[in-house]
Amino acid sequence: MLDVVVLVSGGGTNLQAIIDAVESGSITNTRITGVISNNKNAYALLRARDHGIANRCISPKDYASREEFNEKFIEAVDEWKPDLIVLAGFLVVIPPAMISKYRNRIINIHPSLIPSFCGTGFYGLKVHEAALSRGVKVVGATVHFVDEGTDTGPIILQKAVEVELDDTPEILQKRVMEQAEWKILPRAIDLIANGKVTVRAGKAIVSQ
Ligand code: GRF
Repeated sequence: MLDVVVLVSGGGTNLQAIIDAVESGSITNTRITGVISNNKNAYALLRARDHGIANRCISPKDYASREEFNEKFIEAVDEWKPDLIVLAGFLVVIPPAMISKYRNRIINIHPSLIPSFCGTGFYGLKVHEAALSRGVKVVGATVHFVDEGTDTGPIILQKAVEVELDDTPEILQKRVMEQAEWKILPRAIDLIANGKVTVRAGKAIVSQ
């Protein structure tokens, strides 16, 4: 059984996709042991509550220094003994100590086809604004392991989405979520839970 802790900051539609997939059986061998948000008003926390999943808020704002927050944050995650940590729209920088402690056991969903439109400053709507302003015809999403860089870890799954003529950043963001993010994030968790993802020489090898 893969014990998963999900980290969220906002609406939590990706969290919802994971919960639904666990409940419907399209993610197997997995249970969500807890959800952590840095934002006490995150709608994602209500989604966890509604499904009887343990949840809590831990915010950098409540600590005198980033070091102190990082320490308490790692403790909070450790308490739920995760086999896998899922960043589902989590906007806080992951402490380096957590990355090395959970090497190749933290995954993130990014709303572009990495290495396009990723790295520092590319988050939320900014990703879709940049894609539209460059005029690309295909966008998408990526699930990857988290390493010390920004969006640089081994890529597990990607899915492409067509750009349409009248797209705005908001419309494109929604289509990327519906057609790519909500599909490949649950799929990646199921693959990991069933031992189908390994990392070799810095690359994720996926046997489907
Ligand atoms: C998603 O677009 C995700 O790719 C990005 O943040 C957004 C989170 O949305 N990193 P939600 O909170 O899952 O609805």
